[in-house]
Amino acid sequence: ALTSELGKQIKLKEVEGTLLQPATVDNWSQIQSFEAKPDDLLICTYPKAGTTWIQEIVDMIEQNGDVEKCQRAIIQHRHPFIEWARRGGVHHVGQVGLELLSSSNPPASTSQSAKITDVIHFLYHLLPTSFLTLKFLYVARNAKDCMVSYYHFQRMNHMLPDPGTWEEYFETFINGKVVWGSWFDHVKGWWEMKDRYQILFLFYEDIKRDPKHEIRKVMQFMGKNLDETVLDKIVQETSFEKMKENPMTNRSTVSKSIMDHSISSFMRKGELWGLENHFTVAQNERFDEIYRKKMEGTSINFCMEL
Ligand code: A3P
Repeated sequence: ALTSELGKQIKLKEVEGTLLQPATVDNWSQIQSFEAKPDDLLICTYPKAGTTWIQEIVDMIEQNGDVEKCQRAIIQHRHPFIEWARRGGVHHVGQVGLELLSSSNPPASTSQSAKITDVIHFLYHLLPTSFLTLKFLYVARNAKDCMVSYYHFQRMNHMLPDPGTWEEYFETFINGKVVWGSWFDHVKGWWEMKDRYQILFLFYEDIKRDPKHEIRKVMQFMGKNLDETVLDKIVQETSFEKMKENPMTNRSTVSKSIMDHSISSFMRKGELWGLENHFTVAQNERFDEIYRKKMEGTSINFCMEL
């Protein structure tokens, strides 16, 4: 079994300057040649932007609000991560994204339709080319909350390097030296592509502020039509409180040697910046300055008011 010590010794690898987990890089050519099916829906996020949340929302929509159907498997099996590909050996979800996806009948994917939802954290420019014709759901979350969330995630996830102190992590994060690279490049890259391809670009903050409105957008994008009462139910069932208690979404089934929830929960706070302030005044000012420079010329705007 993997021990936490072994996990923390994990050395990341790089593809085109982007740090990735070794398992992803070792299977890079296999991932790049993955043939997406025309009906696939791809959920794409920067890590900690609300991936699990949008996954549960999409599955609830796909299952017409049927809670029991959404209990059929853990979320990582219902929507496999393509990048968690690994041939042989131990893998932290027990089943492998690529293998799950390439089998003709993935065990926990949506059973009643041909549509398969896959999840990726790819920077836009690292995408396998067969993906470009698909529908993408991109969720962006503001940089500061992603950074705080990622910091705590690296503390508890033994498949990722130890984040060090918050001060150290601040440098690591702004320099993009984290798995899946720079938040700035990721969000900017996808934002710039959003009108060129079939991308529904959502914001974590908007889903938090008005979940029903955003869930309705996702439903329309998926070509579904659900009653208001079903939408209300989906809002309720995908709340932070519900998902934190739900073993199919809260990662409590993952072994402690991989995710140690006693260090920090996977479903930690689900809040917006300002409610939990890790940044010193100086860090905040420096971050804002870096943000301005790195995001110069892009029209993206994160609305932080609830
Ligand atoms: P925090 O660490 O800030 O609490 P991902 O799924 O991309 O790894 O993102 C995890 C982050 O999304 C965590 O943020 C988690 O709490 C938050 N999250 C998950 N489900 C949520 C929900 N239903 N509502 C709000 N936030 C949610």
